[in-house]
Amino acid sequence: MSERPGSGSEFMSTVSPGVSAGTTRPGSGSESMSTVSITIDGRRVDAPEGATLLSVAREQGVEVPTLCQLDTLTPVNTCRLCVMELEGSRTLVPSCSRSVEEGMVVHTASERVRHSRRMVLELLASSVDLDRAGPELTGWMEEYGADPARMSGERVVEEPRIHDELYVRDYSRCILCYKCVEVCGTEAQHSFAITVAGRGYGARISTEYDVDLTESACVYCGNCIGVCPTGALVFRTEWDHREAGTWSPETQEVTRTVCSYCGIGCNLELHTQDGEIVKVTSPLDHDVTRGNLCIKGRFGYDYLRP
Ligand code: SF4
Ligand code: SF4
Ligand code: FES
Repeated sequence: MSERPGSGSEFMSTVSPGVSAGTTRPGSGSESMSTVSITIDGRRVDAPEGATLLSVAREQGVEVPTLCQLDTLTPVNTCRLCVMELEGSRTLVPSCSRSVEEGMVVHTASERVRHSRRMVLELLASSVDLDRAGPELTGWMEEYGADPARMSGERVVEEPRIHDELYVRDYSRCILCYKCVEVCGTEAQHSFAITVAGRGYGARISTEYDVDLTESACVYCGNCIGVCPTGALVFRTEWDHREAGTWSPETQEVTRTVCSYCGIGCNLELHTQDGEIVKVTSPLDHDVTRGNLCIKGRFGYDYLRP
């Protein structure tokens, strides 16, 4: 099984001036793990071989915006929001997939980095609707001074697909981050029900021959909803609340429990609003589910309704 760069859990060293690459830490439980020494924003840091720049930076408390990255998925480098400046490199590097190398000197917030992130945010927000992408993205737009109105180009226009009671696909909000494709394919579900079809502004997430989900290989696990960062894939309940203007995440409670349908022990996070379950997620750090569920755990909660 291949290593997943950037999972974060592999990081074990902290700022340690004077500790050279290859140094092991007695008693750390990782005596056989090699480390490399890099400089990140002027600080010397020891990091395990194979760690990504993103995981090392975050371990150091550096905030790095990401959209297509998730600790449970192999990086695909589609959004380029996480870029950093690497001395000696002609181009900025995607930190979510670039592994550390001995002697690297990296800048996480130089003017060039900030300019690039601002452009990425502006291009994304000018081509699709990101108003349901959450407060984190809104914060980045402010932090980087992104002004999507500067880009007056084409926009992705597509009617939302509301075909059943379980979830809605609204691809006018899709940034083509590939997370749903990954999780539907080799990273988790192995259903391969969706992929990217088309080119340019015509590129979109699609089933084979664009058939309805019910005609595709989809098993309605909802794992694609679980990873979507923009609201392009959402629970029908969330969609209905948003359309009615009653979606209220600040008043919702999240209760962690264990799925009662079988003996596997998947962990569920039940999001409730005014006593109603409005969506179900699963913790990424749980070693059984790693954020994934089946149709029963994800959607089979009607029996809990009064
Ligand atoms: S619900 Fe599951 S099987 Fe269907 S498209 Fe999403 S990830 Fe694939
Ligand atoms: S539907 Fe969501 S998860 Fe899939 S590519 Fe678009 S933004 Fe990413
Ligand atoms: S988060 Fe690194 S390329 Fe998207």
